[in-house]
Amino acid sequence: MCGIVGYVGGQEAWPIIYEGLRRLEYRGYDSAGIAVVDPYGDIQLRKTVGKVSGLESTGEHPDGSVGLGHTRWATHGRPSHENAHPHTDCEQRIAVVHNGIVENYLELKRRLIDAGHEFGSETDTEVLTHLVEEGIDRGLSFQEAFRRMGRMVKGSQAISAIMQGDAAEICALRLGHAGGIVVAQSEGQAIIGSDLPALLPLLQTDSNIGQVAFLETGEMVVVTRDKVEYQDLEGNHIDKQPRMVSQEEILVDKAGYQHFMLKEIMEQPQAVASAMRERVNFETRRVDLLDFPLSPQEIAGLDRVMLIGCGTSLNAAQVGRHLVERYSGLPAEAESASEFRYRDPYIGPGTLVVSIGQSGETADTVAGMQMVKDKGGKLITICNSEGSQASRIADGTLYMRAGIEIGVASTKTFVASLTILNLLAIFLGQSRGVLDTAKRQELVDGLAQAPRLLGDLVANDGVYQYLAQEYAQFDNFLFLGRGMNAPIATEGALKLKEISYIHAEGYPAGEMKHGPIALIDNAMATVALAPKDFLYDKVVNNVKEVKARDGRVLAVLTEGDSQLSADVDHALYIPEAPEHLIPLLITVPLQMLAYHIALLRDRDVDQPRNLAKSVTVE
Ligand code: AGP
Repeated sequence: MCGIVGYVGGQEAWPIIYEGLRRLEYRGYDSAGIAVVDPYGDIQLRKTVGKVSGLESTGEHPDGSVGLGHTRWATHGRPSHENAHPHTDCEQRIAVVHNGIVENYLELKRRLIDAGHEFGSETDTEVLTHLVEEGIDRGLSFQEAFRRMGRMVKGSQAISAIMQGDAAEICALRLGHAGGIVVAQSEGQAIIGSDLPALLPLLQTDSNIGQVAFLETGEMVVVTRDKVEYQDLEGNHIDKQPRMVSQEEILVDKAGYQHFMLKEIMEQPQAVASAMRERVNFETRRVDLLDFPLSPQEIAGLDRVMLIGCGTSLNAAQVGRHLVERYSGLPAEAESASEFRYRDPYIGPGTLVVSIGQSGETADTVAGMQMVKDKGGKLITICNSEGSQASRIADGTLYMRAGIEIGVASTKTFVASLTILNLLAIFLGQSRGVLDTAKRQELVDGLAQAPRLLGDLVANDGVYQYLAQEYAQFDNFLFLGRGMNAPIATEGALKLKEISYIHAEGYPAGEMKHGPIALIDNAMATVALAPKDFLYDKVVNNVKEVKARDGRVLAVLTEGDSQLSADVDHALYIPEAPEHLIPLLITVPLQMLAYHIALLRDRDVDQPRNLAKSVTVE
């Protein structure tokens, strides 16, 4: 959460930092701020509540070629001008930006107040500023004072600071897993950021900025115009080799679509094809996960699979549980990483834990993974971000390869996760000899159709727009599904609520009569997932129960269904497909419905309120 950008070099810092922040808004957009050291050596500060674009109206941009910026996702203290970063000390000698949580901030704040420091915000971040100030007042250099501060704070975070004067240097450090810092240097200039997109404004004019280094936990960097120096928190030099990142990793734009979310929904056929590339042999009809880290003996010794994730990735994990059970012959469970991390689960030599995450940085998921690692468990991750925490902790990573996802609502990474979970289940079944050849071939043949079928579905925009108009006025939605499609119902409800702010619940259809049925009346919209699978008749009964109580029903059916289509108010269709593809296919109409309803309600689709793309705090 929160985005950090720092620049030092021969150009004006403001426009570079501003553009970098705009690229990092997926990390939070409750407030934004930029601090620049002006030509007289003074710190000039501009802040705004809300999005980065609000900085445009904060008056004339200050001149200066060293500066720091921040876009905030609020943790400690509401979104306000006072709580916006950068935070400065009383005399505005130091400006600090921060991503993460200072766990011992109360204790530090009390001590600093007793020592005479005055606080102007409710944030935990402000203690960092005063700690640096304290070090300087005790005669330490800026670097030394920053390092000292880093040794005093507890928690998981990234911190960066600049100081007034003519030193033109930026200090940054990383503690724990919550906050990444990426550093790039070229001739006469350098940039730091929370994430690769921060580098984009410079990359467009200086291709050498593609050489980047990532801070590890406990590492600090001091960046000047001509030099980047890595140290530990004791000041010992660290050797770090930058690596080249591709333009594609950094470069993102909407490609003519109105929103990133729409662009990313449209990219789903390619995302699925890319997830299967070199992993599925459509001639031999086998799945070969060359990037799977377990030996054949270890795979044979597995006796259980546990899948963990949060939000949309949890919904993917729940579908994955069905796939793994069905095709690998192994018992499987799926659980929210935020619950899992605080249990004491048995992780035996035959347990395989699979974490799922678009970002690979979700704090709860990373903590759950760390617990598995500490217990000596076998751990893989399905992840979309190279170099993420998750991919570093896991024994191996099955990359989604969906391309960067900017819309806060996960779309293409969800279908990419489902694709890889299919591959994983088939691969485990194939490797363990429990999946007979005919079944394996049928499953692989089904996967081969997925990009084409998804392509047909995303092209149906007119239908989704029409239905959105029919349903946008409802304030309550129930999404019902069974079996593998129960988690898809939950995902449909999550998409709708997160981008339209409409109350929506996803429920296993069989559970409806145990409570939710009391909610049914003509003001409640029910989205019933009723594809032609082995549970179809059961869902039909549930839909009839809703209709008998005057509920409004939009059903997602298989093309050619004449049985249920006559009983419901509206129907959407997916093509006939094998059962393992149905969760992927049903997802598309639900995403599109949520998207168009949110548009009709005039919501900020790509950056819905209160959310952030990577939830790196607990
Ligand atoms: C998805 O639409 C949500 N924005 C959110 O639930 C997300 O899936 C969750 O925060 C987990 O993120 P991750 O996949 O990066 O771990």
